[in-house]
Amino acid sequence: MKSSITYAEAHELWNKYITTPHLRVHMLQSEAVMRKLAKHFNADADFWGIAGLLHDLDLDRLGLDYTYHGYTTVEILREEGYEIPELFDAIVAHTEGVTNAKRNTNFDIILAAAENITGIITAYVLILPDKKVAGVKASSIKKRLKQLRFAASVNREFIYDIEKAGIQLDDFLTLAIEGISEIAEEVNM
Ligand SMILES: [Fe+2]
Repeated sequence: MKSSITYAEAHELWNKYITTPHLRVHMLQSEAVMRKLAKHFNADADFWGIAGLLHDLDLDRLGLDYTYHGYTTVEILREEGYEIPELFDAIVAHTEGVTNAKRNTNFDIILAAAENITGIITAYVLILPDKKVAGVKASSIKKRLKQLRFAASVNREFIYDIEKAGIQLDDFLTLAIEGISEIAEEVNM
């Protein structure tokens, strides 16, 4: 079993297992946000990016049954010959509330917040006249977070919990918008 994964390998797995367009976009956005946060926290941008890129790797396999969401991604990665505990733990932890998993480490908290914020930002961009992420303000996203019926499936608790990992919500929102803006063309927004 390999205890590490390169970005090229991760990208190949994303390509192999995820065909649903909105999922592909969501995972690229999550990668972009994670990379931005890694820079903020002086962490390994590739590793954090890979966590974003692979966190939902099982969703096309699972369809609508989320019972083993996260655990199934770990299963896939093991089938592919990887054993990477820190990555696996965070991927499973982001399914807290859906499965019996729990977020424990800062990395778990950060991945769960990062992948959820992409949902609010995407929903917000879709209601803009130009449908462009560039120039979106953190304050606009913050307002939408408070409107619980807006992008209702987005887990607010996970987003607010980002402060437990040592970053202010406003700074997190700014970095998330910047991260997605950097790949705007690729994700068509
Ligand atoms: Fe996700």
